[in-house]
Amino acid sequence: MTYARILGTGSYLPEKVVTNDDLAQIVDTSHEWIYSRTGIRERRIAAEGQTTCDLAEQASRAALAAAGCEAGDIDLIIVATTTPDRIFPSTACLLQERLGNRGAPAFDVQAVCTGFIYALATAEKFLRSGSAQRALVVGAETMSRIVDWNDRSTCVLFGDGAGAVVVGMDEEFGIISSHLHADGTYKDLLTVAGGVSEHPEILRNGGAHILMRGNEVFRMAVTTLDNIVEEALAASGLDRKDVQWLVPHQANTRIIGATAKRLGMSMDQVIVTVDRHGNTSGASIPLAFDVAVRDGRIRRGDTVLMEGFGGGFTWGSILLRY
Ligand code: UT7
Repeated sequence: MTYARILGTGSYLPEKVVTNDDLAQIVDTSHEWIYSRTGIRERRIAAEGQTTCDLAEQASRAALAAAGCEAGDIDLIIVATTTPDRIFPSTACLLQERLGNRGAPAFDVQAVCTGFIYALATAEKFLRSGSAQRALVVGAETMSRIVDWNDRSTCVLFGDGAGAVVVGMDEEFGIISSHLHADGTYKDLLTVAGGVSEHPEILRNGGAHILMRGNEVFRMAVTTLDNIVEEALAASGLDRKDVQWLVPHQANTRIIGATAKRLGMSMDQVIVTVDRHGNTSGASIPLAFDVAVRDGRIRRGDTVLMEGFGGGFTWGSILLRY
């Protein structure tokens, strides 16, 4: 049996830190409200002109170095993003050019906050089928560009950043199971209305902003993530106690805590970065994963459950032995 294994990780955060107190200068909010409802203390915001591809490039270079690879060794590039630099070409193509790779297939995946799970599961299928040997999988976002900075119910939640992994085949360790889901009937609960084809006037007028019915999203997220945990454990034949680390999508510490409880995990086994990063959508899982690999918590051989939930709705999990 061979597995698609993460060979190296990297991440990048823009320099500018925006605290809850900073936001209280812009909209009618407070540190107490934001922190108690979400667990967020601060987030990073991209500099003017700094793009999703800029963040992706830094994270990718770090992941390539950690994996001991050159860009030319990569034969598949997938970028999960909801905030691409351009409508086209894909951010993956822009990233490929930056890294100096030529010829490898490169494409974006759009599954909002579940994007990285979708991208990594897709890469795994390319690798397992023999269509690729070494993949670069990135989650990168500049959510600050699609936030309405006058809307206190959403602008306090999001941040910018990127995370990346290099994946290759291994005889012993790697991705054990992956599960992807979507249900488009929930399209209006969490959306940016306005795009190229539907309501292009919203895009032209600069009004393409995140709209979220937070309470309803919250309830769905908790129930769905419970089911994801059960699904991953049942498919892998593993027991709750076999999972050492939970790397969840970082939207809200209350949602993360509910999933950890379901797994019977203490919060010491859960990688939480939402306090410092906010919700970076498709970047949040690889960012959190890289933080925990680099600070020595997640070690080679550890069993890790990644799970995500986001607009669409989309949701999914990846269970892996790192
Ligand atoms: O990443 C994809 C998945 N996304 C999520 O999982 C997000 C899920 N949702 C959530 O995390 C939570 O629903 C929020 C953190 C977004 C909101 O928390 P909530 O406890 O559901 O609050 P709420 O939306 O029900 O709002 C409660 C009150 C409202 O005031 P009234 O109507 O009770 O007077 C809001 O107007 O809080 C008010 N409010 C605020 N007050 C101060 C909303 N935003 C703010 C704010 N500061 N920033």
